[in-house]
Parts: sequence; C-alpha cells; structure tokens
Amino acid sequence: VIAEIARQWGTPAYVYDLAEVRRAEAELREALPRPSRLYYSLKANPHPAIVAELARLGCHAEVSSVGEFSTAREAGFAKNQIMLTGPGKADHEVAAAIALGARRFSVESPYDLAQVGAMAAAAGEQVDVLLRVNADTAVPGMGLSMTGVGSAFGVDASWIESAPERFIDSGGARVRGLHFYMGTQIEDVRLLLSQFELSLQLGRQLMLRYGAAITEIDLGGGFGAPFARTGSRPDLTGLRAGLLAALSEHLPDWHCRRPLVSFESGRFLTAAAGTLVCRVLDVKPSKDRVFVVLDAGIHQLGGMSGLRRLPRIAPTLLPMAGPPRGWMDDCSVVGPLCTPVDMWSSGVRLPTLEPGDLVAVPNVGAYGLTASLLAFIGHLPAAEVVHDGGMPVSATRLTLRRQPLTAGFVPTGSIPAMSRLD
Ligand SMILES: Cc1ncc(COP(=O)(O)O)c(C=O)c1O
Repeated sequence: VIAEIARQWGTPAYVYDLAEVRRAEAELREALPRPSRLYYSLKANPHPAIVAELARLGCHAEVSSVGEFSTAREAGFAKNQIMLTGPGKADHEVAAAIALGARRFSVESPYDLAQVGAMAAAAGEQVDVLLRVNADTAVPGMGLSMTGVGSAFGVDASWIESAPERFIDSGGARVRGLHFYMGTQIEDVRLLLSQFELSLQLGRQLMLRYGAAITEIDLGGGFGAPFARTGSRPDLTGLRAGLLAALSEHLPDWHCRRPLVSFESGRFLTAAAGTLVCRVLDVKPSKDRVFVVLDAGIHQLGGMSGLRRLPRIAPTLLPMAGPPRGWMDDCSVVGPLCTPVDMWSSGVRLPTLEPGDLVAVPNVGAYGLTASLLAFIGHLPAAEVVHDGGMPVSATRLTLRRQPLTAGFVPTGSIPAMSRLD
C-alpha cells in the first residue's frame, strides 16, 4: 500500500490507516473500566478522517484551540462531547468557542474560571468547567511528570484547599468536574496506576468540598506509544483490574457515574496508524561520515523534539526495496532544509541506500506533521493519504497561506484545512 501511495501521490507522504486507529481504540477501551468516557486529544493528530473515525467509535474530544474545536465539530462530535482545555485562553477565543457551541471547559486558574464564566454570562449561556488540578506531590518513579513540580498547567491542589472561595461557580461557569493530567508517554502499567491512584486520592479529598456538584473526574492518561521507531503499543494488561480496585476504594459510586470517570489519549490512539514515506535525495561521504539526504526533515517530522516537547528522535528508516544490499556505518540522516539543524539522527548504521530509494518511518501517526516546523523554509507540507485497511479514503495537503487582515477584525478559525491533491 505504502509504495503504491508514494508512486501515486509523491513523497514525502504521511500514510494513515483507519483500521489501525480502530484497533488502538479497542485495545485502550478494553484496558479501561466501564462505564467511563474516553477523550481523544486532537493535538496528537487533527486530520479530519482520523478525528471522524474516533467520533464514530464513540470517543469524546479534548481540544485546545478554536481551530481544534471546529475540526472536532466538522468531524461529527456533538457540542456536548467536546472539552476545551489549555493554560492560556484569549477572551476572543473563549467567546468564539462559546458562540460555536463549546459548553465544557477545563480551567487552569481563578482568572481562567472567572474569564470563562464572564464570557459565558455575556453570551447568555451556562457552561460546565472542570478544574485542572496539579498534585503537590510527584508520582513515585515517574520521569516525564507534569505534577509535584511548579507547573504552568492547572492549580496546585493546596491552593484550592487554602483559598476555596476562589474556585467556585463564577458568572455563567459552574464547577462540575476535576481534571488531572500528570504525565505523558508512560509505558509501564504500574506507573499509570500510581498516577491514577494519586489523582483519585486527590479527587476524593476535593469532592468532600464540592460534593455532588462534581459530576466528572477526568483522570487524564499518558498512555505511551512508540514514536518514529519500530515497536508496538505498550501492553496494558492489568490496568483495568488495578483501576477497578482503586475506583472502588476512592469513588464507591463511580459505576453509577457518580461521578463519571474519564480518560484522555492522543498518541496511543493514533501513533501506530501513521507512516511517513520519504525518498532518498542524495547519499554522499564527508570526512568519516555518510550523509543520507531525505526529502523530509524537521519541517515534516519531529520539529517539536528540538523543543524538548518530544524525546529526541532517531527515526527508524525501513527500506522499501526488499532485503538490504549491504550496510553503511556512521550515517547522518538529514532533511532537505538549508540549515544544519535539519538532522534526524547521526552516527547510525543504515542499510545501503541510493538516491531515489524509498524509506518509511513507522509509528508517526501522532505528533507528526502538525507538530513540526511546517512553515520553515517554505517546502510544501507532506501529503496526507488515508486508507482503511488498504481501501483509499482521501489524499490531501495541508496548506499554509498568508491572508490579508482587516483592521479591527480578529480571526478565530483554524489554520486553513485541506486542499485536495490531484
Ligand atoms: C491535558 C492533556 N491531555 C491529553 C494530552 C495528550 O497526550 P498523549 O498524546 O500523550 O496521550 C496532553 C498532551 O500533552 C495533555 O496535555
């Protein structure tokens, strides 16, 4: 399928398989307690076909901009299935989201709570908010943690305890839930369980204050997945049993949805569904190294890893022309950008490659194209081709266009969606 797509649509091309999205969703649901809600985090991959597939599967949507909100709506999510999150919300974005139908927000400070409440009241609406809570202690054994340390995200639990009057209904905003998100890229079931346990302990404590007003506890996620390397999704055996035990201990009425328990995932649901196919543009020696120049680089994949948001990548390059003809040592894999930072990896051993060869990078269905430095140096973004277990679904290219602005008019939409490839 992938070689045929490269022939038909050119390279570089992201190839997404909806059948793999369905497999991942089924796997994650199987590992979570029922009843529970699963939010898909659009930041992982906002491609409309992927978002629509997850809407059809019954997920809810976690979005962090008006653009993502619109994408979720267009893909089929109902207004009340979408939660808008994020640590900094501009007034005009909150107003635009409410006008578009947003009724569920995660708020991250007293200011954010008052802001959302004021904008809702101004629109004559009532919205539900979840308070994003940052635990005061770290999850034992957790590396990439967003909790127990100073954080731009959420409010410290101790702040709610010491100044509860700042965390109550405000304007048109009703405090109806608690939102935890303690880490990301966690592959170990024991670690996942210890962070859920910590959230549940805190949730129980905070519910003493809010009582039945709290109708949802979002326990977050952090479910890991391989990124740009071969491998499979982590085995989540034991997660469900551990969660059931922790839920019964801390929230005895959880199974009657008092409160509803929810989870979030981006990468686990989409990473394995995506492959980036690229072409070798040049192969040349310099001093004691071999430089393999590809037609994809940090503008198509991995731009955020330079910003420490994603681990440094050293993508696996799978040659697509059968068994290796030999090996090349000490290779640097670089992209076509005229800057030395456009390098995916160095000092790696690769199968012998020649200009014109196709190579594929697996597991890049999450934090791929839209998490990269798309506009830098002005190459076209990679094509995005979607199939469903081999059946073609769509072929598009994300466009970035400079548009004239009208003074005094603040646009609130998304980056231009998709233009068809032909
Ligand atoms: C609040 C929140 N939810 C969900 C996600 C999605 O994370 P992942 O793709 O690792 O599942 C993130 C990622 O940063 C996040 O900050």
